[in-house]
Amino acid sequence: MVLSEPKLEGDDRCEWPETVLEIGFGEGILSRWAAEAGARHVAGVDLSANMIELAQQTSKDFPNVHFHVCDAANLDAVLSEKFDVIIAVHVFCYATDMMQLQAMVRSAVSCLKVGGRIVGVRECITTRPSIDQSIDLPITAKQCCCACGPLYVGYTIDDLYPEDFCTCKLSYGNSDGSNMNFINYAVSEATMKKVFSEEGLHVVQSGTMLEWDASAPTGVIPDDMISGVVNDYGSLMWFFDCEG
Ligand SMILES: C[S@@+](CC[C@H](N)C(=O)[O-])C[C@H]1O[C@@H](n2cnc3c(N)ncnc32)[C@H](O)[C@@H]1O
Repeated sequence: MVLSEPKLEGDDRCEWPETVLEIGFGEGILSRWAAEAGARHVAGVDLSANMIELAQQTSKDFPNVHFHVCDAANLDAVLSEKFDVIIAVHVFCYATDMMQLQAMVRSAVSCLKVGGRIVGVRECITTRPSIDQSIDLPITAKQCCCACGPLYVGYTIDDLYPEDFCTCKLSYGNSDGSNMNFINYAVSEATMKKVFSEEGLHVVQSGTMLEWDASAPTGVIPDDMISGVVNDYGSLMWFFDCEG
């Protein structure tokens, strides 16, 4: 199966996959996007009962989108079918340790058709933040901010020489001036690839957003956000496209 992008203007490449699962749907933006792009059936799972309420409200015009409250590590609690494509944007970065990460990926694989694709984005440590500072120097937080419509997003990683599952603090600024803060856990891309491979996935393509090539899905996150985050924060945003 070849995964296509949603049908963009002037784009007449292959059809959007029939069935799509979004893990960690948040507000449901990507689930609605998949339905609009042509997916026949879209399922979404999220741990948060608050998010499902919001997503259901904003998706009431999408009868083929169904949301469930569920932990990404236990998808079989609510899902019995297998999907052509799984979207996992900013959700594997909530795994606090290796066991949890493995459980999330294993659970996703159990819901993926043979030959299906799992695509997504997460924070990943692909380079050390500073090459000209000795490890003996005091740890300096690395920060960035970038504008994204009415929101801005800031990242702080406390550790100058980060290890797997180091904390990555995110701060989203709302248009009313308030902030939403939460913590993700970054891993190296080698670790992420190892987990994918151990769980039986073939990594078709992966890398930083700027390396995303035209044959891979784009549009999962608006291009200006991708380039803003990648350009302002080096290579912490890491995409993957794996085949089951
Ligand atoms: C940053 S949001 C991303 C939302 C959406 N994927 C997007 O890109 O618009 C992360 C979402 O993952 C959910 N989440 C975190 N840990 C989860 C888990 N273990 N299982 C399912 N969802 C989880 C959170 O509740 C939150 O809604």
